[in-house]
Amino acid sequence: MSSTTDSNRVVIFDTTLRDGEQSPGASMNLDEKLRIASVLEEMGVDVIEAGFPIASNGDFEAVNEIAKVVKNSTVCGLARASHGDIERCAEAIKPAERQRIHTFLSTSPLHMKYKLQMEPDAVYDMVIDSVTHARNFVDDVEWSAEDGSRTEHDFLCRCVEAAIKAGAGTINIPDTVGYAVPDEFADLISMLFNRVPNIDKAIISVHCHNDLGLAVANSLAAVQVGARQIECTINGLGERAGNAAMEEVVMGIKTRQDRMPYSTGVATENIMKASRLVSGVTGFTVQPNKAIVGANAFAHESGIHQDGMLKHAGTYEIMTPESVGLTQSTLVMGKHSGRHAFAEKIKELGYDLGDNALNDAFLRFKDLADKKKEVFDEDLVALIDDEVVRDNDRIRLVSLEILCGTKHQPPKAEMELEIDGETLSCKSSGDGPVDAAFNGVKKLFPHQARLQLYQVHAVTHGTDAQAEVTVRLEENGRTVNGQGADTDTMVASVKAYVTALNKLLVKREKSAPAAISA
Ligand code: KIV
Ligand code: ZN
Repeated sequence: MSSTTDSNRVVIFDTTLRDGEQSPGASMNLDEKLRIASVLEEMGVDVIEAGFPIASNGDFEAVNEIAKVVKNSTVCGLARASHGDIERCAEAIKPAERQRIHTFLSTSPLHMKYKLQMEPDAVYDMVIDSVTHARNFVDDVEWSAEDGSRTEHDFLCRCVEAAIKAGAGTINIPDTVGYAVPDEFADLISMLFNRVPNIDKAIISVHCHNDLGLAVANSLAAVQVGARQIECTINGLGERAGNAAMEEVVMGIKTRQDRMPYSTGVATENIMKASRLVSGVTGFTVQPNKAIVGANAFAHESGIHQDGMLKHAGTYEIMTPESVGLTQSTLVMGKHSGRHAFAEKIKELGYDLGDNALNDAFLRFKDLADKKKEVFDEDLVALIDDEVVRDNDRIRLVSLEILCGTKHQPPKAEMELEIDGETLSCKSSGDGPVDAAFNGVKKLFPHQARLQLYQVHAVTHGTDAQAEVTVRLEENGRTVNGQGADTDTMVASVKAYVTALNKLLVKREKSAPAAISA
């Protein structure tokens, strides 16, 4: 990782696993969080905010496990201003080589009066107390003035000065409600640089929400007046309209060096991989025209543009697709490919499978290659995510038959599921083939979970492409996403449903106190 002492180096603080996970429906399980953390580390993110340890046992465990495996990035946990929060956070991040506690407190008149029901002087004292307490556990403490962009300047300056004096090395100014506009936000940061006497002792960070679509613009405007940490998420995931999108921030800086001569430690060639992973895990598909990572971001459809591109790529392209890791889908192999080449490919895709899982994956790859002429990288990722990393599932799909079409009304499903080692079968019907199949699952494994999302997308092009289905289920306020992939959309649908149910069962087993969010 490159040095962060260079005065033009912008620290990239990723909060996909904390603020991102707070998006309704974006909950992730431990294994998914570990995979995302590992990709973030590989891409050179400086700080990974891994979660909010006091929020639930699951959050604590995720932060703790990430702290055990991440070596190069700082692992950060979020804590409110209470001693209990801070101690739980310190415990969770303890195994990490580089640890940070991020503690926050609201400072705006609105939040202090209605949310905290505290007087400003009490808030001020609590800022000092929380930062001082956090410093008992770690050297690296970040303090955030929640709703900072709507805080009175005098009070913000007082709190920032006090937090730095108490030992915070990073001061974060959030635009919590996404209300700021770029020049105003830049003025706020400049105001702090001009008025806080000890400001040079800390790195100034910004954390912008996207309610007006200005999160990235606000973040970059702040950097131009001296902020040197940006808090952001992959694909702009986050509360409500989301946070500043990391890929946009990083590529903005990289592409416009003439106006923004700053650097980050992010290896941008990993951007697509991270985007696809986060989108796959959360079921939040990326809009086709999304900057940097949308499917059309590098597509040139109109004749005039195509003609220009053929003459000189610079005519319509300000960044290369390769710079964000977008390469032509690579043809992996066909059904004659050998086990060794397959193992190498799996490693290249970032998986570290044991012998059994590798054998299993190879057999499934052969099955897929029989059904599909060409197998691409994306197919392999879908196949492994779908089948191989699901060792502990209690419910598995054994067989499925669907009768539908104009002559079969209502559509009917016949299926076998293995539940806790026993194979059970049933027949069911429904309003459509998917409904019939899902009714069958409910018959064999009765449950109250409600379907919140059913989404299908093709992994690659062509009518023989694998369908990747996402199913989101909700039970007692807990939400899970399940994915399933297959060349048969109905099989993929039932796999996705069953995967979501399995995740819900794990959540039930680990049943934790109601989640708290920041
Ligand atoms: O948006 C916000 O203010 C936050 C803080 C906890 C940093 O997420
Ligand atoms: Zn936030």
